[in-house]
This record gives sequence, C-alpha cells and structure tokens, in this order.
Amino acid sequence: MKIALASDHAGFEMKEMVARFLTGRGLAFEDFGSSSGESVDYVDFAAAACEAVLAGACDRAILVCGTGIGMAMAANKFPGIRATVCWNAVTAEVARKHNNSNCLTLGGRVLNDQTALEIVRIWLETPFEGGRHERRLAKIVEIEKKYRGF
Ligand code: RB5
Repeated sequence: MKIALASDHAGFEMKEMVARFLTGRGLAFEDFGSSSGESVDYVDFAAAACEAVLAGACDRAILVCGTGIGMAMAANKFPGIRATVCWNAVTAEVARKHNNSNCLTLGGRVLNDQTALEIVRIWLETPFEGGRHERRLAKIVEIEKKYRGF
C-alpha cells in the first residue's frame, strides 16, 4: 500500500511525524507537501494527494490540517474519495470497518502525537467489513453521479 501524504502549515509538524512513522514501518508514501510552517491553503494539498489516489498512483491518503475538517471537506469533493476526520481509536476503527475510508484526515492542532499515531496505525490495519456497509456506500456513489457537473 502506498500512501499520499499532505498537510497545510497547521498540520506540517504532524505530517512530518506521520512520515517518520510510515518510514519506520517500511510503508511506502509520497509527500505532497507542504514543506514548512509557512501559511498555505489546505485545499491545494488535499487536491494533490486526492488526485494521486484517483489516478492510482497511491492507494490511500493521509491529510493533516489544523483540525482535519478543512482537509476532509476538500477531499470529499473528489468522487471516489471517502475522507474521514478521526480523533480517537474508535473513530479510526469504524472509519475503516463501516465507511471504507480511503482518506484519513487529522487535526494537527487538536490531537496529541500519541493519539495521532494510534489513529494512523488502526486506520492502516483495519479492514472494511463490507456487507450492509457496501449498500450505504453505493448510495453515496449514486449521489456523486447524480450531482457530477453541478
Ligand atoms: C489554518 O489556519 C486552518 O484553518 C486549517 O489548518 C484547518 O484547520 C482548516 O480546516
């Protein structure tokens, strides 16, 4: 699995920490920036990472901004991206089991480092349960199709 990793300035330090975590576990990733704590727009970095996932260059994305909210909002505009902001172990687990999340968003200003890495680990390791959840996700795809181009 290859991860598309990105942040804005508010998520930069946490993104770097996640990069070290992935490296330590021998997991492949591509870093789409940002490259410092200088103020940037989270949308641009969400777009770069999500486009890599949709193109098949990466399998999933991890995006970090101040709260995880802006990154999730931007990422979920890309049809096929299922971005979930997670803030603890339970939300990380259910985001995979029920929502088949392919994009984890984290809040660099609201999570401590230990919690953030626990979320990343669980999100990477937990499989999708399928079953009734497939039906619900298929309905989201129908909405994407219906409103594409609006
Ligand atoms: C940047 O100040 C902040 O607004 C951004 O990182 C994020 O939290 C938006 O959702």
